[in-house]
Parts: sequence; C-alpha cells; structure tokens
Amino acid sequence: MGGTSAGGLGAAGGAGGSGAGEGGTPAGGGGGTATDAGTGGTGAAPQVTLRSAASISGRFFGAAINAGHLDESDYAAVAANEFSFATPENEMKWSVTEKTRGTFTFDSGDRIVAFAAQNNLLVKGHTLVWHNQLPSWVPAIQDATDLHDAMINHITQVVSHYRGQVVAWDVVNEGIADNGQSLRSTTFYQVLGAGYVDDAFRAARAADPYARLYYNDYGAEGMNAKSNAVYDLVQGMVSRGVPINGVGLQMHTGPAASSPSAADVAKNMQRLADLGLDVMITEMDVQICTSDLTTQTARFHDIVAACVAQPACKAVTVWGVPDKYSWLNGQTCTTPRPLLFDDNYLAKPAYMGVIDAFFGR
Ligand code: XIL
Repeated sequence: MGGTSAGGLGAAGGAGGSGAGEGGTPAGGGGGTATDAGTGGTGAAPQVTLRSAASISGRFFGAAINAGHLDESDYAAVAANEFSFATPENEMKWSVTEKTRGTFTFDSGDRIVAFAAQNNLLVKGHTLVWHNQLPSWVPAIQDATDLHDAMINHITQVVSHYRGQVVAWDVVNEGIADNGQSLRSTTFYQVLGAGYVDDAFRAARAADPYARLYYNDYGAEGMNAKSNAVYDLVQGMVSRGVPINGVGLQMHTGPAASSPSAADVAKNMQRLADLGLDVMITEMDVQICTSDLTTQTARFHDIVAACVAQPACKAVTVWGVPDKYSWLNGQTCTTPRPLLFDDNYLAKPAYMGVIDAFFGR
C-alpha cells in the first residue's frame, strides 16, 4: 500500500500528515474479507482499511504484534494491510532484552522492526521500566546506586539499539498504584525513590533525541483517582523540564456500559493535552464475556471517536490482531473475543465501528 505513513508523531497535527496517499486504493482489508488482504482483490471495489481510515483522520492505527505469529500468512497479511503502527507485545520487555545482566538480546524485537519497515508501519517500543516481565536479577538488587546503574544501562542500551527504528517509547509502564494514592510500590520505587521516573525519561532522551517518550498506564483512561495521580505525575514532570511527550491510555475495557465513559476519556485527554502532551490509546481491547458484538462495536466506535475529536490524540492501538491470540483468553472468561478480527481473520462488526469513527460518522 501507499507507504507514505512517515508523517511522524512529532509536532501537533503531524501524525500521519503525509499519509493521505493511503486513502485511495488500499488493497484488501475490511468488510469481512480480511483473509483476502494483500491479494489486491479480483475486480472488487477498493475497500477502506483501518490504516487508511486512520490516515485520513491524520492518525495511526496500531496493533500489538507478536513475533511468534509472523510466520502465519494470514496474520502477517492482516498485520501488514490493516495497521500503520506496531507495538511489540512482549519482545522489547526487560525479561526478553536483558534476561541476564549486561547481555542484550534483540532478535525478536528486531524481527518486528523489520516486518514493520517492510510494510510501512511505525513502531512504538514497549516497555523500558515496568515491574512485570522483569528478570529476577533486577529486584534482587537492593543497593540504590547499583539498581540505578542497571536501570540507566538497560534504557541506554535498548533505546540506542532501536534509535531511528522506533518512533516512540513507553518509558515507564504502570508506575502509579491502583488506588491513585502514590507511585506503585515496585522495586524501582522502593530502592530508588520517586526520582526513578524522571531519571528513566532523561536516560531515554539521552539515548534517542527524536523518539516520543510516553508514560503508559491502565485504569487511568477516564476521570478517577488513578488518572488524577497520572495527571499529577506528568504535570510535575513537565514543570521540572523532564523530557516527556505523551501519555498512553491502555484501555483494556469491558463493554460499552462499563467505565470509563467516552466522555470521561475525552475529558482526561483534554487535560493532558492542555499540559502540551500527546495522548494515545495504546492497548485497547473490549472483552465481551457477558456482552455482545453490537455493544463491543459501540465501545470501539465511541473510544476511537474520542481520539478523533482530540488533536493531541495521535494513535489508537488494539492489543492483538485476531481474537484467538488475545492475552485475555482464559482470563475473564474462556473466549472474551476482545479484538477486531475473529479467529479466521474476518473483520468483526467492531471493525466498521472503528472505520466509522475515523470518518466522523
Ligand atoms: C501482556 C501480553 O499481552 C502477554 O502476552 C504477556 O504474557 C503479559 O503482558 N499491560 C501491558 C502489556 O502494558 O505489556 C501487557 O501485555 C498487558 C497489560
């Protein structure tokens, strides 16, 4: 397809700005023909894709991509044709990139970066500092200087490796406690104190002057104690001159009736935008254990519409491609079916909900 999605994530209004060429004749894609993606069709009218619809609205549409599925041809075709943005689902996490102290492994992350480059997707790195998927040697360090050195070295090595190939980073992930009362009591907070967040962002900026640097969290998408705490954290960072560019709203949510409401998400995005920060929906899925596809469609539509209504909102990313590979399978229920493609890669009703939202319908 067009291959002109290099609009970048930089200046306001710049996201996807030069991607207009994608709007015309995207190959394959939506409307229930996802398995034909990439074949160019046989006389069928050109169809819109998630990627082209997002591009026309000046935004990126992303998915969590898992390197382990890229050899599956349907997976690769849909990933390539429908998305303009990729977040490695696990491949750039600390447990993968530095399982042993000082020994860095980039193979699976590189695989995603190469796939993205081939297919004109931009990549957001995920994630540098997080309390999960952390190798056991990290929380074993109790000395502050030692842990500080380890954290800075990890950030420096990983960000430097991907400099020029990754346009944004989730620098700190899930750093606020669920009750919003404080920073989460991770090994980083306990050993290094609150300053670890600023230090992490500064190290990321030193390693890549051009990557957009994000704070990313869940349960802080709407208006509540936790999102107030995220707001306070990033407001403080901005006022201290810490290099932060945006806030990621994960958006692992239930059906339409559940919180957060799209109105609250819009409000939260606006106050973050007022700080001069970008926002993104970074990990959206909508489980329908006790709901249905129609409700799911409305939910996807309304959240994407909130992004479309907010100039500071640069991208929406869904946390996986087909339902069968969702991280939620077997969690809330056996088959939460939370994504936009079914197990056969056919576009679900929510797919058109997303497209409609990008077209302002
Ligand atoms: C999840 C992955 O999807 C799973 O494959 C893995 O086993 C655990 O992590 N918030 C995040 C993501 O920031 O990194 C998590 O991804 C989902 C919750």
